[in-house]
Amino acid sequence: MVTIPAGERDSFGSTIGVIAAAAGSAVGLGNIWRFPYVLGENGGGAFLLIYLGFILAIGFPVMLTEFTIGRRAQRNALGSFKKLAPGKPWYLIGLMGIVAAFLILAFYSTIAGWTLEYLYESITNGFSGKSSVELKNSFESFQAAPFRPVFWQFIFMFLTGYIVFSGVKNGIEKYTKVLMPILLLIIIIISVRSLTLEGSREGLIFLFKPDFSKISWSVVLDALGQAAFSLSIGMGTLITYGSYINKSNNLPRTAFQVSAIDTFIAILAGIMIFPAVFAFNIDPAEGSGLVFIVLPNIFQQMPGGYFFAILFFTLLAIAALTSTVSVLEVVVAYFSEELNLSRKKATIIGSVAISVVGIFATLSFGPLAKYKLLDKTIFGWFDYLSANILLPLGAIFIVLFAGWYLGRKNVLDEISNGGLLKIRIISVFMFIIKFLAPIAITAVFIYGLGLM
Ligand code: TRP
Repeated sequence: MVTIPAGERDSFGSTIGVIAAAAGSAVGLGNIWRFPYVLGENGGGAFLLIYLGFILAIGFPVMLTEFTIGRRAQRNALGSFKKLAPGKPWYLIGLMGIVAAFLILAFYSTIAGWTLEYLYESITNGFSGKSSVELKNSFESFQAAPFRPVFWQFIFMFLTGYIVFSGVKNGIEKYTKVLMPILLLIIIIISVRSLTLEGSREGLIFLFKPDFSKISWSVVLDALGQAAFSLSIGMGTLITYGSYINKSNNLPRTAFQVSAIDTFIAILAGIMIFPAVFAFNIDPAEGSGLVFIVLPNIFQQMPGGYFFAILFFTLLAIAALTSTVSVLEVVVAYFSEELNLSRKKATIIGSVAISVVGIFATLSFGPLAKYKLLDKTIFGWFDYLSANILLPLGAIFIVLFAGWYLGRKNVLDEISNGGLLKIRIISVFMFIIKFLAPIAITAVFIYGLGLM
């Protein structure tokens, strides 16, 4: 294998930086916006249990696999496959990842833009004095407006581009190291507040008590899609980040810590939201508007609500930003390494192209809402295609690549740092990536899509 002279590629400067950046990618709207509403739509506790099973048995191993591929190859998501498997079609996995990055960022930046609008509203006290019906109406009219949501989406893409533009160490690592501790602090404060609301018990029961009558194959697929989406796996984000991780980093430990932080924050988001949902008699299956309709309503009615509203939407914006950065980095690393653009040019071209695609996702809540295919809007399709189709497919091929093509010797060499670390779980790990994960994901996929 060709070795790259040290210092040629940008990289993360410290272990804390790696964790902050990777956890920053994983912890996002997926945890705080998507997880609670998908759990709410899928009946609560039983969904949580299946979700946790997927995180442990599939999510964590796939994350470790992505880090391994990226660090081995020292390349972007597509270049990694080209380098490790020259002349073979494996690079198509990377290509699928780049497409997924476009789709994800296009719809993700829609919601990220909403968080800025809501942060603005909470600072200017815009929820004050509104009834729950009025709050719902103002959310819906904001969503459906032709200009405002696109404006915020662009602002958000600009912020994302700005961080990526500044580089891996001086941009991504620098900002995530500051933002992630703030995020953690805020979510803990709000969860404590939510737990002390009268009537919060019912919300905790909904979140933690499994009711297996709610389970169907489509619920299982949603749990898998959510686990993949939340951990940022299946798309090459973590291959790209892996390629910036130092050769002496303990990859299994890093992957475990990142998976644990992500799961912890998703559960905290549930603890933050469901007690409040039940305390104020709101339907947990409210859907994608859950945090935007339910929470302002609650903040409005509770003591200290003005302050908690600002905290919450700051939290949401930070969570989104450290994730959008990681998705854009996939595209930028690809453009700059494979198409020989400078990082700065690659960032500008990537952000602008994605923003343009993103307009369609954003407007599909308003002017384009009537364009539906099989009852899903453009936004709905971007979300469904990326989370429930491209990510699981990407995850299958990524583990197959590492398990069967790279093989045990290479994989062990990389995750043990050339034999320096004792990897006791290697046999279990190889079994998971060669057999368990691909078979399980395929099965969930086939049943979940209703193909059987
Ligand atoms: N994991 C992020 C979240 O939960 C979103 C995200 C970032 C992502 N990078 C990704 C999802 C790569 C899938 C693939 O919000």
